[in-house]
Amino acid sequence: MFSEKDFISKPFSTIIEEGNFQWSAPSNIALVKYWGKKENQIPANPSISFTLNHCKTITKLAFAKKQNDNNFSFDLLFEGKTKDDFKPKIQKFLERIEIYCPYLKDYHFTIDTENTFPHSSGIASSASGMAALAMNIMSLEKALSRNFGTEMTDHFFNQKASFLARLGSGSACRSIKGSVVVWGNHAEVNGSSDLFGVEFSSKIHDNFKNYQDTILLVDKGEKQVSSTVGHDLMHNHPFAEQRFAQAHENLSAIKKVLENGDLTEFIKIVESEALTLHAMMMTSIPYFILMKPNTLEIINKIWKFRNETNIPICFTLDAGANVHILYPENVRVDVMQFITTELVGYCQNGNYICDAIGTGAIKFI
Ligand code: PMV
Repeated sequence: MFSEKDFISKPFSTIIEEGNFQWSAPSNIALVKYWGKKENQIPANPSISFTLNHCKTITKLAFAKKQNDNNFSFDLLFEGKTKDDFKPKIQKFLERIEIYCPYLKDYHFTIDTENTFPHSSGIASSASGMAALAMNIMSLEKALSRNFGTEMTDHFFNQKASFLARLGSGSACRSIKGSVVVWGNHAEVNGSSDLFGVEFSSKIHDNFKNYQDTILLVDKGEKQVSSTVGHDLMHNHPFAEQRFAQAHENLSAIKKVLENGDLTEFIKIVESEALTLHAMMMTSIPYFILMKPNTLEIINKIWKFRNETNIPICFTLDAGANVHILYPENVRVDVMQFITTELVGYCQNGNYICDAIGTGAIKFI
């Protein structure tokens, strides 16, 4: 069993003066949702997600040696322009991971980041953003440890990157490696951990190969409830214990489904998880309704289309109003026809994003 201590790096005698790395990391969409956490970003229940392919953050990390004056030093650029309002989040992230990466104060960093999806799309970029930054930091650590005479394995690289990303934004730990990723201890998932995401190790049925996710942008505004506030709502929530137990059961069930390809069962679990997530928000104190009228219109249209055509499409939701439509690749033409004729009218400015299952972070430099 891994413990936090296993991720504390050696103090390196830093002899790399400067350099840069660049990674992209994708967003992910949870099938069984993470909602509720304990101290130190430990999830209250296990979750499982599909990694996306097109919705990504691309981050370049340039580093130059500085005097270790016991301060973090970094500039932050978003789409080429200074973006100081993102800085507190990064500062907090660096503070959280410092114990595991003691070399961070030896460098001045320039973090240059951009997303492949529109900034104001209501799609959270924290998962892809924190994952891309964590990969870059691990590239630096790998270079430092090589200098020190130790060759880091890819397995450890990815595991620690996921561990670090989790400390930035919980679900970011599922955006490192693999098409399907489990995060959180679960009795039936070998190697699963509360500390990092692990690639789902069973063979995934061909029905899920290149599974599609079309994201309907219903509300592109700022999130009404930040995920920090959201997770906190699960403390003293009247249904918390039942919900956490249900997530364990749903993960067992979806594990079987991913292996046997039963799309009817897949739809039941995924839609129930999405509605349960929103039910938790509606039944907490304070309570929130994050769906918009158009979210409900879309859900009803999806149900009608599925009943009439038997095409196995379903929806899932994040902590917001946008709708992810999930479906197998072989029904893409019919589903896109349905989306463009019947659903686009419910999207803000007619906007939607076509995505599909991806494989994880990619190194450029
Ligand atoms: O990673 P966070 O703290 O932004 O939380 C994400 C929570 C959900 O997106 C609603 C569910 C999930 O498992 O991704």
